[in-house]
Amino acid sequence: MTTTMTAAVAFGQGNKTRFVEELKALLRIPSVSTAPEHVEDVRRAAEFVAAELERIGMENVRLIETTTVKRKGHPLVYADWLHAAPGADGKAKPTVLCYGHYDVQPAEPLDEWKTPPFDPTERDGNIYARGAVDDKGQMWMHVKALESLMAAGGGKLPVNVRVIIEGEEEVGGEGIAAFVREHGDHLKADVALVSDTEMFAPELPTLCVGLRGMIYTEIEARGSKVDLHSGMYGGAAPNPFVALAQVIAKLKDENGKILIPGFYDKVQKPTADELKAWKALPFDEEHYRETEVGSSVLTGEPGLSVQERTWARPTLDVHGMPGGFVGVGAKTVIPAKALAKVSMRLVPDMTPAESFAKYKAYVESIAPKGVQLEVRLIHAGDPIVVSTDNVYVKAATEAMREVFGKETVFVRGGGSIPIVGDFVRELKIPTVMMGFGLPDDNLHAPNEKFHLANFHRGIESIVRFLSGVAA
Ligand code: BES
Ligand code: MN
Ligand code: MN
Repeated sequence: MTTTMTAAVAFGQGNKTRFVEELKALLRIPSVSTAPEHVEDVRRAAEFVAAELERIGMENVRLIETTTVKRKGHPLVYADWLHAAPGADGKAKPTVLCYGHYDVQPAEPLDEWKTPPFDPTERDGNIYARGAVDDKGQMWMHVKALESLMAAGGGKLPVNVRVIIEGEEEVGGEGIAAFVREHGDHLKADVALVSDTEMFAPELPTLCVGLRGMIYTEIEARGSKVDLHSGMYGGAAPNPFVALAQVIAKLKDENGKILIPGFYDKVQKPTADELKAWKALPFDEEHYRETEVGSSVLTGEPGLSVQERTWARPTLDVHGMPGGFVGVGAKTVIPAKALAKVSMRLVPDMTPAESFAKYKAYVESIAPKGVQLEVRLIHAGDPIVVSTDNVYVKAATEAMREVFGKETVFVRGGGSIPIVGDFVRELKIPTVMMGFGLPDDNLHAPNEKFHLANFHRGIESIVRFLSGVAA
């Protein structure tokens, strides 16, 4: 067993260049899940991943079509290999469910990229491209770890493995959620492995043990029946952008407190142990403000640390307000309608349904006169905290100790991965979130990157984790 692991690690070391070249080919496919013009690209990315899973020796490789109430979804990629030989004690080996996503966020604004988002480029030990770290690069670590173990084991893996890779994580993951609800038995496993989170600091092995949930909404405001000349009608006609601005101003105060009545009712405080551990993390707030955020001050609830504010408190953000005139120069128009994209991050024990109901009722109650508001839910995901008290977390920390020579820190993430909640609740299995992104990897932003050393260390960590789970 150990010799297989050593050989698998060596296989990874010996194939670094090829692994990166393959990742580049995948990164060239603009699989932007939210963009209708990219549906075919999203499917091409799914086929690319499926073909590789087939090539490395995984079985039952297939694309699973998804449909949601709203639209035809992007396909899931499924594969498994379930023939791990029982141990000397005659006990069957556990099954690990490897999860990742092959879809990416839109790349805009394009002119802020130093090199084009879908033309992956290596610079200073990093690979730059949309999806480099979120999540194509991290998902590829799973595929390459499996390939390494297959190669070292003569076509056999030390544990049973199922792979499920989705193509709409970045748009809420409804398709995979429906699949897990309806066909959970197809994903029967003992533990889920997710590599879609970050390390707390460079060189610091990290397990993410909690994620915020979210509700992503739109508020559409309608004033007049058509666009109007702002000189002829200004003063008499309602302006839907001003109305939205007034509504938004009442959603959150200057201390970062959300003003929706009852919004905080279910918020759980982190435990004393968690707060203590978070305090002990190597964190320089001023450095964070300057280099990561790049703003003149940090905002948010007074008296709470950045970690508490971003991991354990709900928040509300406005992402964009499409509509009206956004071209170059000036156009004097009172638009008939305006839109605001507003999301809220949720923490345990808030629920998307209850949070949305409170938000919708409040927004409708503060609608300025003359403007009709429609409040829509675009997608939702539950917040989650996973247990750390199991052999899989232990296997993960041991694997990373071997690779990084350091003890693992446990953090939460402020982001959301909607399906993780379903793994825990529907499949009732522990989830290990072992991610290798860095705080400055520019997720969702221009110049997204993945530190290549972490790509390779991630592969080795996963090889060791899977071998450790088998032992
Ligand atoms: N990988 C991220 C989530 C993440 C990032 C977790 C960093 C922890 C640390 C994921 O791809 C993501 O961006 N999710 C979306 C989900 C949403 C669209 C439902 C998010 O958090 O905005
Ligand atoms: Mn991701
Ligand atoms: Mn993402």
